Amino acid sequence: MTPVIQTSTLTRSFGANTAVQSLTLEVDQGEVFGFLGHNGAGKTTTIRLLNGVLAPSGGSAEVLGFSPHTDGPSIRQRTGVLTETPALDERLSARDNLSIYADLFNVPPAAKRQRVEDLLQQFDLSDRAREKVGGYSKGMKQRMALARALLHDPELLFLDEPTAGLDPVAARQVHDLILHLSRDEGRTIFLCTHNLPEAQRLCDRVGVMEHGRLIAVGKTSELAQAAGLSVRLEIDVAQDDASRADALLREMFPQIKVSFTAGQLFLTGTRYESIPGLIAVLAGAGIRLYRVSPQEATLEDIYFALHEKEAAS
Ligand SMILES: Nc1ncnc2c1ncn2[C@@H]1O[C@H](COP(=O)(O)OP(=O)(O)OP(=O)(O)O)[C@@H](O)[C@H]1O
Ligand SMILES: [Mg+2]
Repeated sequence: MTPVIQTSTLTRSFGANTAVQSLTLEVDQGEVFGFLGHNGAGKTTTIRLLNGVLAPSGGSAEVLGFSPHTDGPSIRQRTGVLTETPALDERLSARDNLSIYADLFNVPPAAKRQRVEDLLQQFDLSDRAREKVGGYSKGMKQRMALARALLHDPELLFLDEPTAGLDPVAARQVHDLILHLSRDEGRTIFLCTHNLPEAQRLCDRVGVMEHGRLIAVGKTSELAQAAGLSVRLEIDVAQDDASRADALLREMFPQIKVSFTAGQLFLTGTRYESIPGLIAVLAGAGIRLYRVSPQEATLEDIYFALHEKEAAS
């Protein structure tokens, strides 16, 4: 699959401060890519570089086959951007806001009216579309800004913290919309977020930035491995067999830490690949097994482990 975004040693400095340092990254068509990192890690700067709003200090990028540096307008015609603090014209209604932006983005006049109405409908704003946006709640404004980013039907969306400051219900609505834009409409989404459960729920792959450098990129399971995190395993056995199972595991797998309470064993330090062998040993010894449940590391576990590892290196 051809990557939609491709960067090679992309770098941007502000004076002595290197906001993005030698970033090499690919984002494939149709994926939801999460871009994570502490405040000031370089996420927003990367979005601005990829849209040709900022010039790079070094390296190169290609977005939808164009260079952002020399061909920004061609890219912006096919990408939608939700900035960290979207500026809406608060004196105008949602319908007028969208209509003006449709003109700015060269939406053909014949299609404009329907497009605006469809988006108002899709983003649950139709009922209040005639009201001034200044009177909207934060969640409504965010939906409005997201609708605006979609006016020209972009195939690639950059969303910079789309749920910051939203209540759980409004955030869930935005999550559902993002999933719909990706799964049902096939758009590629580049999502910056501080909300790790959100990234875990929405993203196919994530990249983690620290001080301008990409310290890890991949699927959650790949990152867990990169962070040196193992699988936690819960095993239910017949109560009478628990201490025998405990002794057997300690003898056969000395690298695994085992603890047990009535009928339940907890294993840490296990690798995925060793689970079948471990079950075979227990079953082979006549231990009555009722449940084996691996608990994968969460993105939150991974995020902190990666940063700790980075700090120690
Ligand atoms: N226009 C600018 N002028 C000077 N410094 C800048 C500018 N834009 C960004 N920076 C600096 O670049 C670094 C990265 O900033 P950036 O906004 O990309 O971080 P971020 O990862 O988006 O952070 P946050 O999570 O807080 O939004 C910071 O040190 C910031 O101060
Ligand atoms: Mg930012």
